[in-house]
Order: sequence, then structure tokens, then C-alpha cells
Amino acid sequence: MSETAIPPVRLRADVLAVPPYRQGATPTEPGFKLSSNENPFDPLPGVREAIAAASEVNRYAAAAMPELRARIAGEFGVTLDHVHLAAGSVAILFQLVQAAAAAGDEYLFAWPSFEAYPSLGLANAATAVRVPLAERAEHDLDAMADAVTERTRVILLCTPNNPTGPTIRREDFDRFMARVPSDTLVILDEAYREFVTDPEAVRGEEVLGEHANLVVLRTFSKAYGLAGLRIGYAVGDPAILAAAATIGIPLSVTGIAEAAALASLAPEARAAHAGRIAELTARRDALAAALRALGLEVPEAQGNFVWIPEGEGEGRIDDTAALAARFAEAGTLVRPFPGLGVRISVGEAESVPVVVDIVRAHIGASLGASLGAALAQEGAL
Ligand SMILES: Cc1ncc(COP(=O)(O)O)c(C=O)c1O
Repeated sequence: MSETAIPPVRLRADVLAVPPYRQGATPTEPGFKLSSNENPFDPLPGVREAIAAASEVNRYAAAAMPELRARIAGEFGVTLDHVHLAAGSVAILFQLVQAAAAAGDEYLFAWPSFEAYPSLGLANAATAVRVPLAERAEHDLDAMADAVTERTRVILLCTPNNPTGPTIRREDFDRFMARVPSDTLVILDEAYREFVTDPEAVRGEEVLGEHANLVVLRTFSKAYGLAGLRIGYAVGDPAILAAAATIGIPLSVTGIAEAAALASLAPEARAAHAGRIAELTARRDALAAALRALGLEVPEAQGNFVWIPEGEGEGRIDDTAALAARFAEAGTLVRPFPGLGVRISVGEAESVPVVVDIVRAHIGASLGASLGAALAQEGAL
């Protein structure tokens, strides 16, 4: 289906005005896919076995999934009715924004942040309000609190922030929550929580009990490497989550995803995952350090990705699209945000030197080009 095709029936003009989601291209050998913050590890053997054993696909899964919800609830010290599952945490984001914000209501988030946020309110014509990030690519929580109006129904906090990397600090979160009306839903989107190593970062399980208006979002897509199976969860007030379930399409979470998630939470799988996560965070820190050593202003990286800002002057990339094109020529995919920067996921160990080499070559080429231009301007060439 082409984006510009005229539909043969009457559809909403505001929906037609927005292009549908487009997945990036696939990498070519010997390149790497570093564009979707995926986990480079294959599923653990125990998880594979659980997937293979969940073979009753002629039946609908038992929608309540009590065993999995009880396991998650136990980790948060809450009862099972405080846990809601969906086919990916992005589905829960959608459900909650739909459940809370009607046409003309506002939902608020930092920008740049997760690319799905701006379209979450499209279906019900809620207004997306973006608050620019502060220095060091962090949430500007004071500006976000200032931006709350009578019409604000949902505030999305992404920590660590995709695509830029920094977390929200616990003390900043506490101050922010004290300014937010207690009847406004706040979603703490912790899709990358398992990769966080900063001890000062806010952690959903530590603050959930303090705020009835807070919902914590997590996913099995990233640290647990189950992106393709689509399963994520929310923890929070049962009445809020029941409203999300009302919006959600029933039976979207498959029994295969449930089995894989449960197997991922088994003690031996958790230990294996902890080892993988430690490897990935060490790799992330090494990649960020190598890019900083090239003179780039890479912000604090607390997810499974690093961010290179676009802009003029030292520490920035002058042309994100050109850098992404240079990667693509080498068969490697990264995620450009035109005018803002480029996000590079932490992938296979062998991808790290490839990334650093390509970025180094890009900086060298653009330095060469700007030096040439400056010399030409001075009439020296
Ligand atoms: C910040 C953030 N939240 C939520 C998601 C959605 O993850 P999933 O729907 O796979 O659980 C992503 C995925 O990239 C993300 O970056």
C-alpha cells in the first residue's frame, strides 16, 4: 500500500495526514542491525524449549495468565491485580493514553524521546505536547511540570530516555511528582530498566507504592530478547490497569509469549540473563567511551544504545543523515533522527570497532570538507 494512495472510502483526514509506521531496512553482510535497540543474543536454551513446548496454537491462550502476573507481582511486592500484560509495552502505552485522554486533552512527554509517543493520541485526537530535553539530553522536569495544564491527562517519563540515554534521577523524580496533580496519570516507561547501572536513577519498584497515579511499564523485548514475541507489562493501580484492558484488544498476548516470559524469569535463566546484561552494559560503556574519545558529546548512556547529537560545533555530528548513509553503505543500520542526532544500538561485540571506525571516518571526512571550504573562502585554494 502506498502512503499517497487515495482510499476508496471516507477515512479520517487527521489519520490520513500521518504516515504509517515503517520498519527500517535489513542489514547486509557483513553489517549489523543497530537500529532498533534489540538484543543481539539468541534466546536461552530453556526459553527456546518453552517456546517449542507451547504448541497448542489451535487454542486461545488463557487470557488472565495468572502465573506470569503473579511472578511479576511478587517482584514488585504487589498483588496480581496490579499487573497488566499486553502484546508489547507499546500496546499498553496506547491503551493508557486512549483510556485517559479524550479529544482535545493533552498528554505530555519530553522530546526527543520514544518515537511512538507522538502518535499514541492520534486515534482519539488527543494533543501531544512535547517538552524539549534539557542540557545533557536529560528530561527537563521543571519545564514539564510547568507545561501541565487543566487538560493534561497523561505524562510519559522515559527512563533511560530512548534515544538519548540518560535516566531520571530519583530525587528529580520525587520533586517532579510533588508538583504533578495527583489525579494525572504518570507513566514511568522503563523499557531499558535492566541496563541501568546508575545508582541514583529512579527505579519503578521503589516509587510505585508512593504514588497511586503512577504506572510502571516494562518489557521482555529488550533485556530478555523477546522483541519478536511481543510481550510487555504494566504495574500499577488495578482500576487504572482495568481501564487499559478495556481499550486493549482481548487475547493479543499469545501462549507462546507467555511461556517464553515465564521461562525467562526462571532462576537459572535470570542468572544467565544477568550475565548477558552485564556484558551488554560493559560493551555500551566501552562504545560510549570510544566515541567520546573521538571528541563527541555522547550523553550518559544507560540503555542498550548510545546517542550522538547533531549540530554545529565541537562534539556534534554535522549531518546525521550523511552519517547514517555511511553506515548503510557498510551494510550496518543505525537510527538517524534528522536534525537531532543518531542512535546506535549496542549489538554484537564485533560491531563496536566497526561503529567506531565508521564514525571516525565520517568526522575525518566532514572536518576535511569544512577545512577545504574555509580555505576556499579565504581564497587560499
Ligand atoms: C522507551 C520504549 N518504550 C516502549 C517500547 C516498546 O517496547 P515493546 O512494545 O517491544 O515492549 C520501546 C521499544 O523500542 C521503547 O524504546
